[in-house]
Order: sequence, then C-alpha cells, then structure tokens
Amino acid sequence: MIGRLNHVAIAVPDLAEASARYRDALGAEVGPPMDLPEHGVRVVFVTLPNTKVELLEPLGEASPIAGFLGKSAGGGIHHICYEVEDILAARDRLVEAGARVLGGGEPKIGAHGKPVLFLHPKDFNGTLVELEQA
Ligand code: CO
Repeated sequence: MIGRLNHVAIAVPDLAEASARYRDALGAEVGPPMDLPEHGVRVVFVTLPNTKVELLEPLGEASPIAGFLGKSAGGGIHHICYEVEDILAARDRLVEAGARVLGGGEPKIGAHGKPVLFLHPKDFNGTLVELEQA
C-alpha cells in the first residue's frame, strides 16, 4: 500500500531564513513560499533528486505547528509524507488496523493540490505521518 517518500517536513521559526540556508549553504532548489490557511502553515518546498523537504512556518493564530515550535524553538522534523494510490482505501485499511486518523478522518487538499490525511504519531512510533494520494 505505502508508496514513495513524498517529503520530510521540518518546522522552522523563520521560513525566509531556513529557505536561504537550504538555497545558499546546501545549494538546493528552493521553491516560492505558499500560504495554506486551511492547514495553518506557510510552506516552501525544497526539491531534491529523490524526494522533497517541506519547510513549515506557522500561519495564523491556531497553527498546528505553533505548539511544536513552543517546545522546539529552533525547529525540528515535524512529519513525513508517504504516497498512496487511493487515500480512502488507505484510510479504511489503517482504521481497521487500529490507527487513528486526525481531524475527523476526511482528506483535505494539501500543498500539491492532492488529498492528504494525517495519522496519529502515537500509532507510528512517535512520528506524525501524512498520506498523500499520488
Ligand atoms: Co507535508
């Protein structure tokens, strides 16, 4: 069921500073910032030869990553995103296996214009998992 690693997401306190570091120090291909108000984040995608890195900054008062940055002020790995072919079939299989889907269980449209879901980190060894329909 699980497919490619789509991206690793890193929460950062300063998106412009983090973007510049990836571009200038690492020589990475860094995309433009995008606001995702429905997810409470502003994101930048860094494209690598085999996957992507998603840099995340809080957007708005109720951002889900504000609490994360409250505990890890300098930033840190926030989630990993795996691709699945059929997100509803993947969700149903995971729920049957006892995994908890966050946010009511219905997919939202993610940063790539495709449906995404998040799975409870306690069900995946302390890692917040995002599924994206490829
Ligand atoms: Co993501």
